[in-house]
Amino acid sequence: REAHAASGSAFTFDEVTAGVDETHHVAEGYDADVLLRWGDKVFADSPEFDPDNQTPESQLRQFGYNNDYVGFIPLDGADDRGLLVVTHEYTNAELMFPGFARIVKVEEDKEKGIEASEKVELGEFTRTIVDIEMAAHGGTVIEIRRDEDGKWHPVLDSRYNRRIHLGTEMELSGPVAGHDRVKTNADPSGKLVKGTLNNCAGGVTPWGTFLMAEENFHGYFRGALPEGHRETANYERYGVPAGWYSWGEHHERFDVSKEPNEANRFGWVVEVDVQDPNAKPKKRTALGRVKHEGAESVVNKDGRVVTYCGDDERFDYIYKFVTAGTFDPDNRAANMDLLDDGTLYVAKFNEDGTLDWMPLVFGDNGLTAENGFASQADVLVETRRAADLLGATKMDRPEDVEPNAVTGKVYCMLTNNTKRQPGDENAANPRAENAFGHIIEITEPDGDFAATRSTWEILLKCGDPSIAEVGASFNPATTENGWFGMPDNCATDADGRLWVSTDGNSEKKTGRTDGLWAVDTEGAARGTSRLFFRVPVGAEMCGPVFDPSGQTLFCAVQHPGDEGLATYEAPATRWPDFRDDMPVRPAVVTITKKGGGKIGAA
Ligand code: FEO
Ligand code: CA
Ligand code: CA
Ligand code: CA
Repeated sequence: REAHAASGSAFTFDEVTAGVDETHHVAEGYDADVLLRWGDKVFADSPEFDPDNQTPESQLRQFGYNNDYVGFIPLDGADDRGLLVVTHEYTNAELMFPGFARIVKVEEDKEKGIEASEKVELGEFTRTIVDIEMAAHGGTVIEIRRDEDGKWHPVLDSRYNRRIHLGTEMELSGPVAGHDRVKTNADPSGKLVKGTLNNCAGGVTPWGTFLMAEENFHGYFRGALPEGHRETANYERYGVPAGWYSWGEHHERFDVSKEPNEANRFGWVVEVDVQDPNAKPKKRTALGRVKHEGAESVVNKDGRVVTYCGDDERFDYIYKFVTAGTFDPDNRAANMDLLDDGTLYVAKFNEDGTLDWMPLVFGDNGLTAENGFASQADVLVETRRAADLLGATKMDRPEDVEPNAVTGKVYCMLTNNTKRQPGDENAANPRAENAFGHIIEITEPDGDFAATRSTWEILLKCGDPSIAEVGASFNPATTENGWFGMPDNCATDADGRLWVSTDGNSEKKTGRTDGLWAVDTEGAARGTSRLFFRVPVGAEMCGPVFDPSGQTLFCAVQHPGDEGLATYEAPATRWPDFRDDMPVRPAVVTITKKGGGKIGAA
C-alpha cells in the first residue's frame, strides 16, 4: 500500500492475482455478493426458477439472461434504497436449455480440408424456445434496499419492478416517428414498436430515466429483401439480415422478405421512465440508428445535455448528441422529451490531436436529396451512411464512451480490430491487427461538453507490456496482474476515477479472465492499471457502476461458462450456484468493503 501511495495512485487496494478459474475473485477486504441471477424472481408472485420446465410465461416474470448494463437510480434521495436497472443483451441457447445442445464429432474430410474435431450442435428452435429467448431479452427495473447488515437485496413487492422484453409496446419518438420507412403491416402509423433487443450497455439520464442501447440488431433478422427494395443498401451497411437467431421462423416481423421495414425500427436508444412501470418506453430516434454500445450522459455547464455513443463495429464511429433544450433540475417532467430535439455529431479525430464533431444535419455537408437524403428522418435511419459521407474517423470497434463530469474528459473504449491492415492506421487507431484495443481520452475545451472542436490523446494501448511486438503502453508501475486487453465498458466514480471492464481475455489470449481494472488518469501514475475483480471462466465483465456514496460497486457477470465446447450439461463452470441441478447463470454482483467505506480508497 505504501508503494501505491508513493506512485501517486488515486486508488488504494491490494491487487487481485490475474488468472483463470471457475469462480470470481475480488480484492482482499471486500465482499462480492450475488444479487440477481438469470431466472430469479422479479415480482413477489414470480414462479421459482425451474430450469427443467422453462416457459415464456415464467421467463417474463423472472430476471433475464446475459445482464450487461447496470445502473443505479436512488429513490427519494435515500442512500439505502434505489432502482437497479439492468439490460439483458442476448441469449445462449446452448447454455440455457437442458438437452438442447450436444457435442458431436466432425469427421475428417481431406478433400474439403476439414480436420477431425468436435463442435456444439444445437437442437430445434421451437416456438417455445424462441419465445423464451424473446422473454429473456430486454431489461429489468427492480427496487433494491441495503439492510442493516450492509448488504443489498431485491424488494420483490416494489411497485416499480418491471420486465421489459420483445412484447413491451414502445413508441418511436423524434424525427423518424411516423416516417414511411418505419411503417409495417402491424404498425401502419410508424410510431409503435413491439419491444427492444440486443440491449448492450446504456445509461441513466440526469433526470433519472434508464437508457437501453440497441446494439447488434442485425443478428435477429433473416430472409431476403424483395428484389430492388429501397432498403437494400441501407441494410447492407448494417449487415441486415445476419440470421443469428431463428425468431423469423415463428414471428414474421423478423423475416425481411415478409416485413421489410421492421429492421429500421431497431438500432435506437430506448428511454424508460422508471417511475411509472406502465409508461411506454420511447425509442429516441434523434440519437441516430447504429449498433449502439451505450448512451452515457452529462449535463453541460450551459444546461444542455450531452450523450455519448459508440457504434460497436470494426471501422465504425463515435457520436455525441447535444440537446437543444436545457436540463431543469427542479422539474423532472420538463426534461422528459429533451432527447427528441438536438444535434447529433460524429467524431473526426485529426492527426494533430484535435477532434472535429461534425453535425449530421439534413441539408448540410452533402446530406441532401442528391445523396439520397430527403429529410432528417433519412439521415437518422441511415446514420452510418451519413457519417461515411462526412468522412468521420473509422475506429477500432468503439464500445463504451463515458463523460467524466468531474474532470471534463471523455473516455472511449476501443475494444479491438484485427482487420485493420498495415498501412491503414491513423493517429487515433495506431495499431494494425489491433488484437487488444486501446483507450482514447478526449478533452472537451474548458469543460464544454457541447464543443464542436476538442482535443484527444491515447491514454492506453492495451495488451501484455512484456511482449514488445504488442506495443502496449501501460505505465511501468503496472504489475503483471494489472494489464489487460480488450477494454469494453467503463465507469467513472464520484471522485472522477476511471474503472475499466473487459471482454475477450482468456487463458489462450492473455492468460487471464476478464475483470475490472482501476486505471489512474492523473499525474505520474497516469496509465497505471490494477486488477480489482475478476470473473469466472468464459464470462465477460459488464456494467460497472457505483452508488452515489461510492461504497457499493455493481457489476454484471455476462455469459459465464461460455468457453470452449460449452453446453447446458457441460459448461466451463457452474457459477454462481455450483449445483449439479442448476445451470451456469449470468448474474449481477454487488461489491462492498468489509466494515464499510469507499471502494478503492484507504
Ligand atoms: Fe454488446 Fe459491444 O458489446
Ligand atoms: Ca459491450
Ligand atoms: Ca459505462
Ligand atoms: Ca465487447
